[in-house]
Amino acid sequence: MGIFHQPVLVDEVVFYLNCESGKIYVDGTVGGGGHACAILEKTSPDGFLLGIDWDKEAIAESDGRLSPYKGRYQLICDNFANMMQILKASPWKEVDGILLDLGVSFHHLNDPERGFSFLKDGPLDMRMDRRTGPTAAEIVNGLSQKELSEIIYKYGEEKWAKRIAKNIVETRKKTSIKTTLQLSKIVQEAIPRRYWPRKIHPATRTFQAIRIVVNREIENLENFLKEAIYLLKYRGRLVIISFHSLEDRLVKTYFRNWSREGLVKLLTKRPVVPSLEEVRKNPHARSAKLRAVEKRRQNENCHLGKA
Ligand SMILES: C[S@@+](CC[C@H](N)C(=O)[O-])C[C@H]1O[C@@H](n2cnc3c(N)ncnc32)[C@H](O)[C@@H]1O
Repeated sequence: MGIFHQPVLVDEVVFYLNCESGKIYVDGTVGGGGHACAILEKTSPDGFLLGIDWDKEAIAESDGRLSPYKGRYQLICDNFANMMQILKASPWKEVDGILLDLGVSFHHLNDPERGFSFLKDGPLDMRMDRRTGPTAAEIVNGLSQKELSEIIYKYGEEKWAKRIAKNIVETRKKTSIKTTLQLSKIVQEAIPRRYWPRKIHPATRTFQAIRIVVNREIENLENFLKEAIYLLKYRGRLVIISFHSLEDRLVKTYFRNWSREGLVKLLTKRPVVPSLEEVRKNPHARSAKLRAVEKRRQNENCHLGKA
């Protein structure tokens, strides 16, 4: 099926996390273990990494990839929004660095069975964590036309959202929508052919919107951010890579508010983006934005205002 995932901005992640031996890092989206591997390498011989992912296939993949570093990492299958509880149950309450590399991995997009692909047929699923619902099919068949139109517009930035939602609702009156190619066809039929985007598949934005809702991606990021500052040691670093403007705006707002309250130093005044060379080799990297902060206050003096 090809590679599990090609990580983006690897050198930049290692740099902004300030990876050093003897320190403890959390990779909250360990995926195929690409960033984790670079962190463990850079923190040799005794840095420790706690890797979290809510997809058990990602945990299995990264466990294989990180095996040369046995004894220096631990993997946990959970939501990164639960990081505070995870750390409370661990030997470390605060860590030296936390990484989030948001979104899906190549593995999700390439495996038709996971239901993320508009090119290959599969069940309309799109859950990264298959232990809980709802599936994309439940969302597509269950929400009202207005709700569908709103989410496709908001999370997909799709200007044909109203027509797409209408076509979904008209189709499901006749038959329920169960597969990815069914949905892809409905979206394509809703957009007049002369307005199909030139660089991306016409269903890209709708699939992205539904994926964000299925996985509660914005809520999980916000729940993590509400607690994240307490999880870092003094001078600990938080690095977040986002691929969607709503996520980047959320990260930027939290970081700016923390900085105004004197809790952190902004390490990236503007987001760091991949070089043209990286985008040429890995087109998926093109929308990546990395932001980083360093904590500048001890936890006992860390009283959050309204971030
Ligand atoms: C872009 S991939 C990360 C790739 C990874 N950095 C690498 O080098 O292979 C994002 C990963 O985050 C996971 N993920 C997304 N949201 C999550 C959440 N709320 N909690 C835990 N894992 C999450 C996905 O399952 C996916 O494996």
